[in-house]
Amino acid sequence: MLTRVDSGLDGVVVADTALSEVDGQAGRLIVRGHSIGDLVATRGFEAVAAVLWDGLAEAGGDETAVRRGLGEARTRAWASVPALLAAARGLTPVEALRLSLAMLPDTDTLPAHLRVCGALPVALAAILRSATGAAPIAPDPALGTAQDLLRMIRGEPAPPVFERALDIYLGTVADHGFNASTCTARVAASTRAELVSAVLAGLCALKGPLHGGAPGPVLDMLDEIGTVEAAEPWFRRAFADGVRLMGVGHRIYKVRDPRADVLKAAVATLPSTAGRLAFAADIERAAIAALRAAKPKQRLDTNVEFYTALLLEALAIPRSAFTALFAVGRAAGWCAHVFEQERSGRIIRPQSNYVGPRPA
Ligand code: ACO
Repeated sequence: MLTRVDSGLDGVVVADTALSEVDGQAGRLIVRGHSIGDLVATRGFEAVAAVLWDGLAEAGGDETAVRRGLGEARTRAWASVPALLAAARGLTPVEALRLSLAMLPDTDTLPAHLRVCGALPVALAAILRSATGAAPIAPDPALGTAQDLLRMIRGEPAPPVFERALDIYLGTVADHGFNASTCTARVAASTRAELVSAVLAGLCALKGPLHGGAPGPVLDMLDEIGTVEAAEPWFRRAFADGVRLMGVGHRIYKVRDPRADVLKAAVATLPSTAGRLAFAADIERAAIAALRAAKPKQRLDTNVEFYTALLLEALAIPRSAFTALFAVGRAAGWCAHVFEQERSGRIIRPQSNYVGPRPA
């Protein structure tokens, strides 16, 4: 009988990866040799995808080729939009995105990583427009993903400062070590399920509120708290009821998540965000102080989702679509991990400790 059980696989190392390192003590994220802040300081999603796919997949290492490939993939995905919208009626954005991936064949003339990363923004924009009764807008393959996604959602080009903020966001969240959704994608890839299926598995794991589902509830929390004065009693009640504060805490980071500052700075570049940002920063400070008092043994700090929420709100993305938008960025990382996993060749198959009855 196996004895030691760690239900969260806390501290268990199951793979070598050259893609990204999450240093939870130093509060540092390295993506293929670049610190995340430096990587997205002047470049965006296509550049980060090119870095992640370098040496692993077609167009990898070449930002221009990635941009061209994703543009072509978005155009290809546009043909499936009527069928997607017909089938997605009544679904939430992330459920509809799940459907859009499930509709993709495993193999086609265009490589699967490009088809996946091209299909997601087209599907998301069409779903958001259909929720307001508006007709979908066709992609423009000459644009970058962030620029085209905002244009397809809004029906007109967004101000450049909005495009840049979304580009920073998509690049910032593209990869993050062996998080729950990436691990799930790699488990599926380890069975040789192929890339589309592995990415779909990753999306399903991303959906939960403890992972990619947190940013919408961050805004709900800010709304419920309402004023800085109300924060402390609100947190006390939340702890008494066993409620978790969203956008706070992380399995690996024992200090502030470095992506929080990258995204906070991006929010500050957007018009009319100063008041909201100052309020959020006050609530953030109060939340961390309340957690330190209530749970002195835990080292809980702000995670990426807190300022994700502020940034996507400032871009006028509906809360219900935050997780789906996260998937648009993270898909680049899932694909890179699938390629890396396929090279290792071993099925990921841990064990369980049987505690049920045995035959007499
Ligand atoms: N609010 C209140 N208490 C918390 C929080 C939180 N956000 N996070 C952890 N804790 C407490 C737990 O209640 C527990 O306390 P206890 O020992 O008194 O029972 C202790 O910290 C340890 O909790 P675990 O669940 O074991 O910590 P774990 O490392 O497994 O959880 C997680 C990490 C799931 C991210 C957690 O911090 C959480 O639920 N955060 C809120 C949701 C969130 O923001 N998720 C997004 C994370 S970033 C991302 O995935 C992209």
